[in-house]
Amino acid sequence: MDITEIDVQIQLSAGFAKPEFNIIGLADRAVKESAERIRNALGALNLSLPSKRLTVNLSPADIEKTGSHFDLPILCGILCAMDILPTEEVSRYVIIGEIGLDGAICRTGGVLPASVWANSKGYGIICPGVQGGEARWAGHTNILAPNHVLELINHFRGTQILPLPKTIEITNTEDKIGDLAEVHGQESAKRALEIAAAGGHAMLMIGPPGSGKTMLASRLPTIMPEMTPDEILETSIIYSIAGKLNNQSLITKRPFRSVHHTASSVALAGGGSDAKPGEISLAHNGVLFLDELPEFNRTTLEILRQPMESGKIVISRAKRNATYPAHFQLIAAMNPCPCGHLGNAALSCSRAPRCAEAYQNKISGPLLDRIDLHVDVDAVNPWEMKIKNESPIETSAQIRERVVAARNRQIVRQGYVNALLDGADLDKYVVLNDELTTFLNTAAEKMGMSARGYNRIKRIARTIADLRGSGEIIMSDIAEALSYRPINRGKYGVKRQ
Ligand SMILES: Nc1ncnc2c1ncn2[C@@H]1O[C@H](COP(=O)(O)OP(=O)(O)OP(=O)(O)O)[C@@H](O)[C@H]1O
Ligand SMILES: [Mg+2]
Repeated sequence: MDITEIDVQIQLSAGFAKPEFNIIGLADRAVKESAERIRNALGALNLSLPSKRLTVNLSPADIEKTGSHFDLPILCGILCAMDILPTEEVSRYVIIGEIGLDGAICRTGGVLPASVWANSKGYGIICPGVQGGEARWAGHTNILAPNHVLELINHFRGTQILPLPKTIEITNTEDKIGDLAEVHGQESAKRALEIAAAGGHAMLMIGPPGSGKTMLASRLPTIMPEMTPDEILETSIIYSIAGKLNNQSLITKRPFRSVHHTASSVALAGGGSDAKPGEISLAHNGVLFLDELPEFNRTTLEILRQPMESGKIVISRAKRNATYPAHFQLIAAMNPCPCGHLGNAALSCSRAPRCAEAYQNKISGPLLDRIDLHVDVDAVNPWEMKIKNESPIETSAQIRERVVAARNRQIVRQGYVNALLDGADLDKYVVLNDELTTFLNTAAEKMGMSARGYNRIKRIARTIADLRGSGEIIMSDIAEALSYRPINRGKYGVKRQ
């Protein structure tokens, strides 16, 4: 992620009867409104701007500045120019914070990344009091976190020393997101979910309404490995920028972002006037769940193609580009047709299969191609639900143990998850003997598989072997991988246009 250092320069020019206050350096409306907030905050401190022309320049001047977090650095600059704060000392700090009309320092987005950056450059950080814990998480110990401008002035005058904020305790609160044991039947879908979690593979579920697709997807985080400290920091930084890091708690549970199909491109990818991160970045190191996939706007979905391969998203802005990490695991679900009952003679509508063709064709081929696991999720038979109810069902914790072991094998072997295997690494780590190669080639030929499809089978077979705890891929791994046929070739498949 790019972080740009902005220098606040203050110029006081003498010879003016009335005080003038200008902010320059490509500042947007929110930044320009700073002037009003600062004037009021100074008033609350019983200070008034000197009768001079005050020019604030935010440098470099060719980068657009947006947001209210410039309030505090600008105010500190002015207090330095008025000799109320010591310039030399203050310039050793990165400053971030919004100012209230009464001089209170209010919460703002981006404190965590600012603190990480300040720490790496040897600067201290001044941030809002409520966010001291957030700044502390970056491993920083030179932090001033005042709640009011007066506290900051008193600190530099030596009359009130600001204490080092407390570190955020990581508490692993158990959220009520359910357990896979609550899903009856659906053994093959659960198996696919386990493979997806182990290898980080994208997955698409297709089946009639009420078969448990949403239920299965929402329980994926319960079988994924715990987040590592690095992942916690990366993901929390994104939430910090988005202003979604609440109550001083970090993001310690893998995000599960369920996006509604009416979401706009900006909501999904990020952007807008303040270049905020979108859902795909909020799902970084976690799950992006798109329920009712064909209902999404096609151009919105196409945005996913690039980040799914690169793990990041570039948002173009008028003057510059913002890049956010977007390494998410895509889980999608859909009905085979608008009424959802394609293939069920008793329930399907009279327009089948043409309405299903139109429906499924809303999703582009290249996007489907990027999804490793395609799974049919049929309706559960009531009898099966009853029988399964009586015999014990595996819990998420039991499945997670196998997932974690398989993940560890991948990290030790190649340093990343199997879903990202491609090119030379794919050939290096997925070795097939002559017999397996002939088997796979024959199947590929019969199924008319594309080169990408062929590689998809190899990646999934690798994950299946890892779940078996084996370095060697065997025939049953390939056979199982081949069973996750693309939806258009599976039970609910229709002609693609
Ligand atoms: N396999 C199952 N085991 C236990 N309960 C189930 C199962 N499948 C569905 N249910 C029950 O049905 C409800 C609806 O399931 P869910 O929302 O997951 O279906 P869906 O496949 O996503 O349907 P739709 O296609 O309409 O979105 C669940 O909340 C649950 O109570
Ligand atoms: Mg659903």
